Parts: sequence; structure tokens; C-alpha cells
Amino acid sequence: MMKRDTIKSILARPAAGGEVTVMGWARAVRAQKAVIFIQVNDGSCLANLQVVVPAAHPDFERLSRLSQGAGLKAVGELAASAGSGQAYELVARELVIYGEADPGSYPLQKKQHSFEFLRESVAHLRPRTRTFGAVLRVRNVLARAIHDFYQGRGFIWAHTPIITASDCEGAGQMFRVSTLDPAHPPCLPDGAVDYAQDFFAKPAYLTVSGQLAGETLALALSSIYTFGPTFRAENSNTTRHLAEFWMVEPEAAFYDLQDNMDLAEDFLKHLFRTVLDECSEDMAFFAEFIEKSAVTTLEHIVTSPFERITYTEAIKILETCGEPFEYPVSWGMDIQTEHERYLAEKRMKRPVIITDYPKDIKAFYMRMNEDGRTVRGMDVLVPRLGEIIGGSQREERLDVLEARMAEMNIDPAAYGWYLDTRRFGSVPHSGFGLGFERTVQFVTGMGNIRDVIPYPRTPKSAELG
Ligand code: 4AD
Repeated sequence: MMKRDTIKSILARPAAGGEVTVMGWARAVRAQKAVIFIQVNDGSCLANLQVVVPAAHPDFERLSRLSQGAGLKAVGELAASAGSGQAYELVARELVIYGEADPGSYPLQKKQHSFEFLRESVAHLRPRTRTFGAVLRVRNVLARAIHDFYQGRGFIWAHTPIITASDCEGAGQMFRVSTLDPAHPPCLPDGAVDYAQDFFAKPAYLTVSGQLAGETLALALSSIYTFGPTFRAENSNTTRHLAEFWMVEPEAAFYDLQDNMDLAEDFLKHLFRTVLDECSEDMAFFAEFIEKSAVTTLEHIVTSPFERITYTEAIKILETCGEPFEYPVSWGMDIQTEHERYLAEKRMKRPVIITDYPKDIKAFYMRMNEDGRTVRGMDVLVPRLGEIIGGSQREERLDVLEARMAEMNIDPAAYGWYLDTRRFGSVPHSGFGLGFERTVQFVTGMGNIRDVIPYPRTPKSAELG
């Protein structure tokens, strides 16, 4: 393995001195008569390390033509930096250029590109920009913090299938998985495709949620969580929707809705606190260039309790607040993003958990309330974004669940395995799903969810990867 010192570790040193080896990419090159300054970044942190090439270097002439984007290695003494802005610089004794980047055609020149251009035209190069480096580092810290949180509480990380035959959310927005020839599929006498001849001998899809399988595991191991990719074939061209996104889904037996809300609140606070503690350099960057309130919003959230209201209370607030909403408000409607944002951002100025939704706008598995009209669902809304978590206490009573499925025209035969968990040793349990990209988006303040995942999948777009 090539031995190198990360720029992060170099900048964390208490003092200059000693030889270091840096490998990375030139972010900027300034060639003067007697010296060349190269700003090198290796992705380990936001900051660059300045590499100084003195005129005495045997390759000085050639190196002075070096340009932004080149991949290189520099070895030399770590010196206290004379210039402002940085404590150290590397005085190069040896400089190896692994690969040049022709300034005539390298797309990431000095000028600032729009996020749209970076995403649509050079998605494969955008990790080299400051913003995407910062996004990906924060994303990584959040992923680890998720595991730390649940592992610390004894939840077991369980791996639920990506290919499934059941539609968890019942919304029918699934991508089909098939090996049949789309041009000549085998057909039944009535002309319908004969999926008995398909790979799984029945229709199969990419999962929209690991929840139903997660429930079977929680009803044996008590507390589990999933963290993996999920897929939705909804034609939502918004700044908050992806066709492929990652979800974290804790599921816990012996949890009621209160426990579920407490877990969600503790969980989000843990994630935000971790980012504040461990990503201060990247977060300062987001606050300066992306979203002024990026840091202050998180600081505020970790120190104040979430607001908790019922759907019915939320509707009352929305009906009487005098805000000019695009979608009119009435009991029974789905709360829209504009309403979510009003509640969390303007009205409460902090995360809000809304509970007890009308049964008609929620999935079949949510526990029915005494009133017969509402279910024990919960959504967590955050300022700027709206919904970040959706979950519920689950219906554990077999007869109520069966009645609900019949009401919603869900074929019980397809859910025999799920109903078995209610037939045998059914216990109260609850869970929720946190959208991972929405979390990264909220934390960083990035305006578009497509800019917090390396290769976003959205309607009519699946670049690279
Ligand atoms: O509210 P949702 O649909 O809930 C479920 O799927 C439940 N089965 C979860 C559970 O109880 N275990 O989705 C959960 C979260 C949303 O709050 C949102 O943050 C995110 O997943 N999400 C999306 N993120 C990006 N793009 C999309 N198309 C998303 N759809 C949902």
C-alpha cells in the first residue's frame, strides 16, 4: 500500500516539522517565478493543504504548467505557513504527477458551476467539488451515528429483502423485477402476462420499505432496525423525492406510540448532536455558502423538546391561521408540504410530531383508535423540509387487522405470513422510517435531495453508477 498522510491528520498536528507525504488532487495552482503554490485536497477534510514547490526543484519548469484537477503526490517538510489562512504548508522535496487534467477540457475550472450542471453533466466529477465533499463526509458521519444510536440501545441490525412480492405501503408505486422478455412475455389464454413463468414464479418488485419483514424480526428479537436502500416508482419531480433512497427503520416490540415518539425524538437529536460535534468544519461551510441557519437550527433542535399534536389539532391550526395555502385545508385531507412547513417552520419553529391520522389516508397496518376514524400513525416534520419520519404503532389485533384489510381490498392470502405474526404470540409494537437523504438534506441545508446522494435516481434520470 502507498503510505500517505491524510490532510485531515496533518492539519490536526500540534506543531510543524517532520516529513509528510500527501496524495490528492490540485484544487488550484498558482505559479510564480520563484515558487509554485498548489492547493491540494484529498477529501479527508474540507481544507486544502498548500504545497510549495521551490524554484530549486529539478522539474520546476514542467510543474509550473500544472493545472487544476491533476492527481499528485508531494513529499516534504511540514513547515509553518507564512501566508494567512493556514497553519502549515508542505515544502515539496519530491513531487509526482500521477495524472494531469487538461485545462482545455477539464470541466471543473475555477468558475462556480450550478448544482444542476454538476448533477446533470458531470455527476462523476462533482465529488471533487467542495460542496459534495462536505455532503459526503456528513453523510458518512450520519450513517455511523445511526448504527451507534441503535447498537447502543441493543437494537439488532437486520437485513430485510430488497426484492419482495408485497407492497408494504399499499400505494402500488413499485418497480417490477422480472427476467421475462418484455417484447415477448409468456401469456395466459386471456392475454395477461404469465408470471408463473417468471424468475420468482410470481410478480416481484423492489421494496418500498423493509417494515413488514422488519415486524416479523422484531416479533422475535424485540428491537431491530434496518438501514438500506428502498425504491419508489412515484412520478414525483420534487426537491424531496428520489426513486432510490435509503431508509432507516427501527421496529420494536412492546413499544406503544409514546415510546415510538420518544425514540424518534432521541434518535434525531443524537444524529444532529453528532454532526455538530464531529463535522464542525463542513457545517461551517454549509452555514456560510448554502443555508445560513444550518448550524443554528440544529443547535436549537438538540436543546428543545419536539412539539407533539394530533392530526385533528393540526387541522384546526391550519384552518384558523390565516395563511394563504395553495391546497385548501379540511379534516380528512393529506397534509401537504406547504402545511408541514408552516407548522414546523413558522408556527412551532421546531420539529413537530403529528399523530392520530384519519384511517383513510394511512396504510392498513396502523393501529386503529377507539374512535374508529383515526389510526395511531405519526409523522415527524422539521423546519425547511417537512416530513422526515413516518411511522406508527402497528395493529396487533388479528380481527381488527383482517377487517381493515378487507375494507381496503387487500388480499389476505398474499399476507398470510404477516397475519401469522398476529395469530401466534402477537404483542404491541411500533416503528418508523427515517428518510436518510432527507436527513442529510436537512442537516446540510442543501436545497435539492438530488445533491445529497452520489448518483440520484429520479424520473427520466439514472446517470452512471
Ligand atoms: O412515510 P413512509 O412512506 O413510511 C414507510 O415507508 C413506513 N413503512 C416506515 C415504517 O414505519 N417503518 O416513508 C418514511 C420516510 C419518509 O418520512 C421520508 O423521510 C422518506 O422515508 N421518503 C422518501 N425519501 C426520499 N424520496 C422518497 N421518494 C421518499 N419517500 C419516503
